[in-house]
Amino acid sequence: MKRIIKYFLIPALMLIIFNACNHKEEHPGWVYMPDMMYSEAYSAYSENPNFEDGKTNQPPVQGTIARGKAPYPYERTFQGQQSAGKELHNPLEANEENLAMGKEQYRIFCASCHGEQGKGDGHLYTSKLFTAKPTSLVDDYVQEKPDGEIYHVITMGSLSGLMGAHGAQISPGERWKIIHYVKNGLSENK
Ligand code: HEC
Repeated sequence: MKRIIKYFLIPALMLIIFNACNHKEEHPGWVYMPDMMYSEAYSAYSENPNFEDGKTNQPPVQGTIARGKAPYPYERTFQGQQSAGKELHNPLEANEENLAMGKEQYRIFCASCHGEQGKGDGHLYTSKLFTAKPTSLVDDYVQEKPDGEIYHVITMGSLSGLMGAHGAQISPGERWKIIHYVKNGLSENK
């Protein structure tokens, strides 16, 4: 019996198993487990019998938040803006690097309305494409606002809604850098 196993069964098994590993291009090898070899791909919106609700796209697990998408608790109301002003503080240093990045972001996202110099005379306003007068960012009114209030305006838009929300386009870190630039760079244009 031992001989049969040693000289026949084992070699036969190895032959079968290793046959699946051949590298001949004209033969793909034998597939023992088709489910693993050819796994079924589901597209995001297709039905899916593996989940209880039958959908491939599953909602995020309750209580989790997406990376970099912390919830923003302040509403676009006077009260919301005041609270943001009191409770949110600029976590970044106003160093040269952050100011330079803030300037770059300011020129991309704000200058078209508020102007390169921050005086409220950006191209969209002077060309009359945008009719609401943008606030001057160099005047005391904005310069004396707490950073958190400006953060709130960038995130949610102005109270009247004339300036739209930029929370979806500008990351939190970039908002704070822009604020450093408004307070430490633009302020020189007063
Ligand atoms: C599409 C034009 C537009 C863009 C872009 C824009 N703003 Fe404004 N912004 C306005 C207008 C118009 C007002 C005045 C709105 C009002 O008084 O309700 C305003 C007001 C403000 C105020 C004063 C809010 C207050 O409480 O009175 C601040 C601060 C401000 N903008 C900062 C920024 C910054 C920083 C950016 C860039 C991230 C930016 N804005 C981009 C048009 C714009």
